[in-house]
Amino acid sequence: MGRLINTDITEEDKLTEDKLRPQRLSEYIGQEKIKEMMTVYIEAAKKRGEPLDHVLFYGPPGLGKTTLSGIIANEMGVNIKITSGPAIEKPGEMAAILNNLAEGDVLFIDEIHRLNRQVEEVLYPAMEDFAIDILLGKEAGARSVRLDLPHFTLVGATTRVGMLTAPLRDRFGVVQKMEFYTPSELCTIVKRSARVLKVGIDDEGALRIARRSRGTPRLANRLLRRVRDFAEVRYDGHITADVADYALDILDVDKIGLDQNDREYLICIMDKFGGGPVGIDTLAAALSEDAGTLEDVIEPYLLMNGLIQRTPRGRIVTEHAYAHLGHERMGQQSLRF
Ligand SMILES: Nc1ncnc2c1ncn2[C@@H]1O[C@H](COP(=O)(O)OP(=O)(O)OP(=O)(O)O)[C@@H](O)[C@H]1O
Ligand SMILES: [Mg+2]
Repeated sequence: MGRLINTDITEEDKLTEDKLRPQRLSEYIGQEKIKEMMTVYIEAAKKRGEPLDHVLFYGPPGLGKTTLSGIIANEMGVNIKITSGPAIEKPGEMAAILNNLAEGDVLFIDEIHRLNRQVEEVLYPAMEDFAIDILLGKEAGARSVRLDLPHFTLVGATTRVGMLTAPLRDRFGVVQKMEFYTPSELCTIVKRSARVLKVGIDDEGALRIARRSRGTPRLANRLLRRVRDFAEVRYDGHITADVADYALDILDVDKIGLDQNDREYLICIMDKFGGGPVGIDTLAAALSEDAGTLEDVIEPYLLMNGLIQRTPRGRIVTEHAYAHLGHERMGQQSLRF
C-alpha cells in the first residue's frame, strides 16, 4: 500500500489522470498494433453505420485500457457509460444499465472478471442478440419475456483475463492484449504529460524517468509528478537528467522500475526454492498471493525483462535477476541495490 512503484491507481493519480488522458487515437502513444486494428474497425463500423463490435482489453494495470475505451467512444462519436464488475451486484441492476443505453453507446465495464455469475448471464443475450430476458410473475406462473435493447458496444477491461469465463470471453468480437511500453514510447508520454502539466523537461530527463517506469504510463506520469516536486524545490523547476536521477535515487526507484512485489517474488524463489524451478501454486502459497495474480500481474514484466523463465517444471530466476538484485546464489544474505 502506498508504494510509489506499485502500478495500481492511487487517489493522487485519479486527480491528474483525467487531465493527462489522451482523447483521440492520434494522441494515444504506442500499442501500434491495437491502434491500427481499432482504427480499421472503427472506420468500418462508421461506414456501415453500425455500432462497433464488442471489445475486450486485457493486460497489467496502468497500460491504458480505460484511456483507450474513452477514445473508442470519442472516435465513434457516441456516449460512454462507465461501470465496473464489482459495482454491479444484482442482475436487475445490469438490466437497468443496459436498458438505459442509447443506440450506439459504449458501455465500459472495468474489472469485468469480477462480475458475479448471475449478473454475467444477463450479458450473454444482451451481447449476442441485443435483448434481455426478464422473468415476470412468481414460481409456477412465472414466464420469461424478451426485451429488446439498443445496439450498443460493450468494452470490457481486465487485468486478469484468465478469470473470465469462456462464454463471456467468446462473446467479444475483438480481444486485444495490451503490451508494456518501450522506454522511447514512455519518453514521448512523459514529454506530453509535462506539456499538459506545464513542467519544463529535456529529452534526457524524460528518458531517465521513462526507463524506470516499468513499461507503464501510469507509473511514468506518477514519477514525473514526483520529480517535478524535486525540480521545483531543489532546482530551478526544469527537469534534466541530473534532476531526474537525483530525485529517482532518493525515491529509491529501481533502475529498471521493479516494485516491491517484484522483488519479493524474485527473492522468494532465490531464498526459499534455491532459484527454482518452483511450481506456481507452491510459489503462490509461499508469497500468500493468488496464483492468477502472479501470472497476470507480476510475471509479465519479469518475463519481458528476462529476470525469470517459465519452464514445464516451474519458474526459475535467471542469472540476470541475481546480478540485478546483487543477490548471491544459495540464499546468502546480501542486498546491494
Ligand atoms: N498510450 C498512452 N498514451 C499516453 N498516455 C497514456 C497512454 N496509456 C495510458 N496513458 C496514461 O496512463 C494513465 C493510466 O492509464 P489507464 O487508466 O487507461 O490504465 P488502465 O490500463 O485502465 O489501468 P487499470 O488496469 O489500473 O484500470 C492515464 O491517465 C493516461 O494518462
Ligand atoms: Mg482502468
